[in-house]
Amino acid sequence: MSWTKVVRATEVPAGTIKAVAVDGSPLVICRVSEGEAFAVEDCCSHDDAPLAGGSLSDHVIECPRHGGQFDVRTGQPVRMPAASAIDTVPAQLTEDGWIAVDAEQLP
Ligand code: FES
Repeated sequence: MSWTKVVRATEVPAGTIKAVAVDGSPLVICRVSEGEAFAVEDCCSHDDAPLAGGSLSDHVIECPRHGGQFDVRTGQPVRMPAASAIDTVPAQLTEDGWIAVDAEQLP
């Protein structure tokens, strides 16, 4: 693992998402709760819409274009028209107040 700090945790309050780029890979940081953050690729598997323009509800991100939904823990689709998974990247909250992703597992 190669943890790379990508955004201060205070910039992504619980229940919100934020677009970041790590080594040129566009990701969406999903702050599910105070203690949980996930990262997914910023590209819907249905028709390539940027997911960062969508919304987060619990562990589900909704695509802004056609309403497809994905579980941010696994990348698996949970509502049509999304039918195939998106990439996920391990993410964690650091003790010094950042959200970090594993740069070795970028899409
Ligand atoms: S582009 Fe995301 S559901 Fe169609």
